[in-house]
Amino acid sequence: MTPQDLAATLARFPRASLGFLPTPLERLDNLSAAIGGATIYAKRDDMTGLAMGGNKVRQLEYYLGAAKAENADTVLITGAVQSNFVRAAAAGARKLGMDIHIQLEERVPNPDPTYRANGNVLLDKLLGAHLHSYPEGEDEAGADRALGALADSLKAEGKRPFIVPLSGDRPPKGAMGYVQAALEIAEDMENQTLKIDEVIVASGSALTHVGLLFGLRAININIPVIGACVRRDAEAQHQRVTKRLQDLAELMELPNPVQPEDIVLNDSALPPGYGQLGPDAKAALEAIAQTEGQFVDPVYTAKVLAVAIDRAKELGSDKSVLFIHTGGQPALFGYAEKMGLV
Ligand SMILES: Cc1ncc(COP(=O)(O)O)c(C=O)c1O
Repeated sequence: MTPQDLAATLARFPRASLGFLPTPLERLDNLSAAIGGATIYAKRDDMTGLAMGGNKVRQLEYYLGAAKAENADTVLITGAVQSNFVRAAAAGARKLGMDIHIQLEERVPNPDPTYRANGNVLLDKLLGAHLHSYPEGEDEAGADRALGALADSLKAEGKRPFIVPLSGDRPPKGAMGYVQAALEIAEDMENQTLKIDEVIVASGSALTHVGLLFGLRAININIPVIGACVRRDAEAQHQRVTKRLQDLAELMELPNPVQPEDIVLNDSALPPGYGQLGPDAKAALEAIAQTEGQFVDPVYTAKVLAVAIDRAKELGSDKSVLFIHTGGQPALFGYAEKMGLV
C-alpha cells in the first residue's frame, strides 16, 4: 500500500498529540569511527519530548487518545519499578487532565537504594501518581488482573478508569505509534537520501518492534529489522512478535504484510537478564557517552546499541545500520551501582 493509504488507516484511530514529532535522525560519526565497521545512525526517539521522551510516548498517543475518546478520567498502568512506560503514562495522563495510578512490579533484583527512590520512581512521585505494588515480576496476566481489580474499586467510587494493558491478550494499540514511526523513517531516508542496510530495535513488550516492522513492510520497504531482546530470549520473543503482528493486523483491519522470515531476533546482549547490565551493554553505554556525548539507558537501549555495534562490525564499512534510540535515560539514576560508578 502507499504511505498515504497507511496514514489514512492510522487516522481512523483516536490519537492524542503528546510527542515532539518527527524526531531527528542523526549520523553517529565518532562512534562509527571508533567501531570501525558500518556507519551507525540513530533515530532519536529519546527526544520525543514529553517528560524526558522515549518510545513509549509514541505508543501512548494511541492509548491515551482512546482513553480520551472513552471519556476516561483516570489512567491505570503496570510496569517494572524503573519503568519508563509508567513514567511517560503518568506525564501523558497529567497533560490530558487525567488522574494516574501506577502499579510497580518486582521484576529486577537490585539492592541499590537509588533503584527504588531515584530515576523514574522520583519522576512518578513528582507527577503525583498514586503508587501501588505487585509482588511478582513475571506474571503479566496476574498484574493486569490486579489492575482490573483496582479499576473496579475506582469505578465503585464513581471514577471512569482506563487501563493501559501489559499482557498480550489485549489489542496492541501502542504498536500503531511505531507504524506511524515507520512512515517517518521512510520520509527521513528519502529526505536524507539514505540507504539503510539494517534496522536494530528493542523487542520487549514487542510493540515497538512489531509496529515498525509492520509499518515498513506495509509500504514495501524490505530492510531487515532486527529485534534486540531486552526481556526474554529469542525463542520466546519470536512467538510473542508473531502473535502481536497478527493482533495488529486485526486491529488495523489490514492483511499482515510481514513474512515469517522477516521476524529476526537477537538475544546476544540480554544476559544476565531483564534489567541487568551485562558487559557488552555496559561497553556500549560507555562508548556512546565517550565518543558522542550521548546517553543510552542500562535496561533497554544499551543492549540494543550493543547489538547494533555487533552488526556494524559484521556488515563492514560500506554499509549503514539504524539504531532506534528508544530513550529510557531516567533509569540511569537508579543504576549507579550496576554501572560500577559508586
Ligand atoms: C527505553 C525503552 N526502550 C525500549 C523498550 C521496549 O519497547 P517495547 O516494550 O515496545 O518492546 C522500553 C519498554 O519499556 C523502554 O522503556
